[in-house]
Amino acid sequence: MNVLLFGPPGSGKGTQAKDLAERLGVPHVATGDIFRKNLREGTALGQLANSFMKVGALVPDSVTCDIVADRLMQPDALDGVLLDGFPRSVPQAEWLLGWLASNGRRADAVISLEVPEAAILERITGRRTCSQCGATYHVVYNPPGATCAKCGSNEIVQRKDDSAEVVQGRLTAYARETAAVLPLLRKSVATHDLDGTGEIAAVKARIFAALKL
Ligand code: AP5
Ligand code: MG
Ligand code: ZN
Repeated sequence: MNVLLFGPPGSGKGTQAKDLAERLGVPHVATGDIFRKNLREGTALGQLANSFMKVGALVPDSVTCDIVADRLMQPDALDGVLLDGFPRSVPQAEWLLGWLASNGRRADAVISLEVPEAAILERITGRRTCSQCGATYHVVYNPPGATCAKCGSNEIVQRKDDSAEVVQGRLTAYARETAAVLPLLRKSVATHDLDGTGEIAAVKARIFAALKL
């Protein structure tokens, strides 16, 4: 099953993705995580992506689509993936739907998480992230222990693009380039518009119910 997790920055995509991917039995593919991993490893892709991420802008479509194509061809992704943060521009969405069709695959469902902007700002500024596995925590809503509950690493940090200044850039990019993706996906993929507010467990229950899991 190929499922797309859609929503503004801080809407809870990464938080929900871990359990959902496990339940679906597919890998969690998050373009933001791929870019951050490349940056940590000092690759050319990481340097390039960071020049956009640090101001909250989208990484160019051609670069992003190429890395997704590579990821979708890996053996563990052939039977399905959970895409988090992709597609997030109209050209990316058109590319993805075309690519899946020409490879005999399809997008089965879109989960769209709706969260008002005030809650988004509070979530993002309180977020802490495991730099090893990408697991997300929140100083109030999901406080991390001394080590990551998912992978045991002690590198739980604040993401560089979680500063108030960069968050504004990310919200602008979302409004300008990403919001228009949802009506496009809706035309051909079963789309579930879900309330992303409330307890993390309550949001998870809504997602599982929508997908009949
Ligand atoms: P990316 O890493 O995808 O960031 P994003 O879209 O801005 O989304 P976030 O990761 O900030 O939010 P999330 O929805 O995952 O929320 P989370 O679960 O962490 O992208 C980063 C950058 O990479 C982009 O700006 C761009 O430059 C580039 N990029 C990535 N993909 C791209 C693409 N396709 N094309 C071009 N460029 C691309 O939750 C947030 C916080 O809230 C956490 O602290 C969490 O604990 C807390 N929380 C979650 N749920 C709840 C709840 N129910 N109640 C209370 N708190 C909650
Ligand atoms: Mg995320
Ligand atoms: Zn971890």
